[in-house]
Amino acid sequence: MSPDDVRTRVRDQALGIAAGWSPPDAPPTWALTAELFRAIADDDVLLDLAAAIPPDRLPPLLLSAAVRHLAAREAPDPLARYFPTPGSGQPSLDDGFRPALAAFAREHADTLAGLCAAHRYQMNEVGRSADVLAVLGDVTEGAPDRPIALVDLGTGAGLGLQLDRYRYHYAGAETVDVGDPDSPVRLTCTIRAGDPPIPTTVPTIAARVGIDVEPLDLDEPDVRDWLAACIPPETGAVDRFAAATAVVRTHPAPLVRGDLVDTVAKVCAELPPETLLVLVDTYVHVFLPDDERARFRDLLPRLGRDLEWISVDPLVPLGPEGRESVQGLPVPERAVEACRAGVTGVVGRLSVRDGAVSGRVLGLAHPGAAWLEWLDAPQPR
Ligand SMILES: C[S@@+](CC[C@H](N)C(=O)[O-])C[C@H]1O[C@@H](n2cnc3c(N)ncnc32)[C@H](O)[C@@H]1O
Repeated sequence: MSPDDVRTRVRDQALGIAAGWSPPDAPPTWALTAELFRAIADDDVLLDLAAAIPPDRLPPLLLSAAVRHLAAREAPDPLARYFPTPGSGQPSLDDGFRPALAAFAREHADTLAGLCAAHRYQMNEVGRSADVLAVLGDVTEGAPDRPIALVDLGTGAGLGLQLDRYRYHYAGAETVDVGDPDSPVRLTCTIRAGDPPIPTTVPTIAARVGIDVEPLDLDEPDVRDWLAACIPPETGAVDRFAAATAVVRTHPAPLVRGDLVDTVAKVCAELPPETLLVLVDTYVHVFLPDDERARFRDLLPRLGRDLEWISVDPLVPLGPEGRESVQGLPVPERAVEACRAGVTGVVGRLSVRDGAVSGRVLGLAHPGAAWLEWLDAPQPR
């Protein structure tokens, strides 16, 4: 690929991220996130920095994290004032942001390149638990009391493993509150369309374990700082990450280091047989190569027990050309449209019962879980 083609590809990725996180109807608090990614697309120095990052390291996202990390460390004035910190609320955005960012990038280009070379983009978005809980409502509809063994694939720091320790506020035609009313983590999600089967209580989680090639220890200050930098600069995301970090540190859950395709069978074999096995993947399978996704799907019926796989991932290939579900499920046209417009989570449920596999795409989700759109079941012909 020529350097110009690389720049064009990275530019398109940055614009797709801006459009996915902050579409025209997004809450205004997402405007800074969109502006940051549009600046990466438009500014020569930022685009060169992003284009120098290998494509599998998610160039615009990794660069955004490097900018946030360095800005938190150096506190440059006025750039640092634009970024929210826990409890700060969303600082106002004005025409000064772009020039401040451009000046910062020029002054610190070498340091930003070094940060990108030394780190991977590791965003852990606890808000996606609200998407997963909606599917759990679907999963447990017939047997609400059956305890669950939760396996979070690509768990990062393990925020998704604590989904029974959060409180949830779904706002739509009706508002629904679920979960621990005393939790410091309050996840708010707007129901944009449809009627997701939000459960009235969070199912009991009898066992939980996370798998990650690089599990992250939130007791390490450097890890916490880098993960905080990977969070989009939106006040709700920043606050819930800080609150969820405290929950995870109070309730450490087992994290297995390893490739999820290689380790999932062994991990599942050790979980209590009476539980319903629920595998969760949020923004993980989208990054696996095609053959690894196929290998994962093929091994599920061979695990020898009933299970559910809940996925919240954009269609593949990642980007506007995405057409296929990472779970190999039939894809409604609405999901194709949404992924064409910007990065969007496609919410799917795949079930294995007595070795038979079935499933359906259930909904669409904002990448930071600001909204959920539930799709109607296809009508039998
Ligand atoms: C974009 S992050 C998503 C983290 C989390 N699931 C969430 O939604 O907040 C992707 C995570 O998957 C992990 N990962 C990527 N490929 C993996 C693999 N083959 N096996 C296990 N973990 C993997 C990465 O290390 C990273 O923590």
